[in-house]
Amino acid sequence: MRPGERQASGRIRLARHQIGKSRHMAMGTRAERGARGHDGSVAASMGRWGLICCALALLFGALLWASQSLAQEASEGPVEEPPIGLGVPGGTSGAASDSDFWREIRQGDGGLVNIENPNAGVLIRSEGETWRQINSVALPTYGAMYMAGMLIVLCLFFALHGRVRLEHGRSDRKILRFKTIDRAAHWLLASSFLILAVTGLMLRYGRELLIPVIGHGAFAEIASIGKYLHNSVAFAFMAGLVLVFVLWIRENIPNRHDALWVVKGGGLLPGIHAPARKFNAGQKFVFWAVIGFGILLSMSGIALLFPFTTGFTADIFWVINAVFQTSLPTELSPLQEQHYSQLWHSIISMVFIIIIMGHIYIGTIGMEGAFEAMGSGEVDSNWAREHHSLWVEEVEAETVAGKVRQSETPAE
Ligand code: HEM
Repeated sequence: MRPGERQASGRIRLARHQIGKSRHMAMGTRAERGARGHDGSVAASMGRWGLICCALALLFGALLWASQSLAQEASEGPVEEPPIGLGVPGGTSGAASDSDFWREIRQGDGGLVNIENPNAGVLIRSEGETWRQINSVALPTYGAMYMAGMLIVLCLFFALHGRVRLEHGRSDRKILRFKTIDRAAHWLLASSFLILAVTGLMLRYGRELLIPVIGHGAFAEIASIGKYLHNSVAFAFMAGLVLVFVLWIRENIPNRHDALWVVKGGGLLPGIHAPARKFNAGQKFVFWAVIGFGILLSMSGIALLFPFTTGFTADIFWVINAVFQTSLPTELSPLQEQHYSQLWHSIISMVFIIIIMGHIYIGTIGMEGAFEAMGSGEVDSNWAREHHSLWVEEVEAETVAGKVRQSETPAE
């Protein structure tokens, strides 16, 4: 072998040795490889699962981060611009609803509007539902029950007790009880009240009672006439109220005879006469009820005639608070004023009707000789002595005094 060939084969051997060594280092000997055998594949598969777990953890973390940042964006501000005209604040379109915001609206929190009606700023008025329930369910139901109840009581009373008769029969003497002005005032008040009561009841109960009988068209006609009558006759009622108050207040001031009149059964017990002046305690009750309820009815009626611009409930609550130390609300919105006015107009009118039913009963079929006082103005002197004995004494004393004055006047 030549020296060049020897060097080359030496390098080849060295290279083989190096390769062999590195193979050995990399793969180990066959024995070593046999000893590692199964453990090697376990480690490999564990590595794979580790990788999968890491990938899943990363994915999960990314999802978590994304959802958090989305939620944060949603709570921090509007994500998307709603279409013009349909925009409502509070993220109502799904997951992120602003409950506090809507709670405030539900409780009547108002916004600002630049149209004339200030109530338009309030989206939801929850107390309106309470008002609706009272106005359309409780009031008509209880009102009808009590009015019908009063009618039944009067019928029963008449059936059991009969008419209050003149114990001593009729005499041939008459006494002037009410002058023309008194009777004109009474009938102005009475006729206007009756028209108001009939039209008011028709407006409240007409739908249920009249439509099934006369149909929608006829009811619409009657209801619109009734509404105009109700609104205009109210002013005649107020005029009558003022007249009656001015003319009769002096004789309706309570006095010591009133208590005795009540104790003696108000002249309803047979054979027992309770002395009274021109008006007895029962009539004084009617007078003050008419004046008090008449004023309240007129005030609430005016508030309803001019809605959202007038209202007296807050003022009345203020007076009640001052007198009875209560804490009724004195700051009311125009809509609340309207609701309250509507409620007390209805309640008072029904109580008023019930009282007047009793009054009409006693002034017509309930008592013999009573109607004449408001008819011709003159009553039988026996009727006057049996029911208003002190008044008869006063009238006779005045007549005697007048005659004396006349006889004392020197002839010309
Ligand atoms: C058909 C209906 C009515 C009849 C028949 C009637 C009849 C009478 C009569 C006879 C009197 C005189 C009693 C007496 O001599 O002492 C009287 C008085 C009176 N009426 Fe009427 N009335 C009617 C309707 C009304 C109405 C609707 C009101 C009020 C809204 C009213 C208010 C009064 C008042 C305040 C008195 C004086 C107090 C009293 O006597 O009770 N009346 N009425």
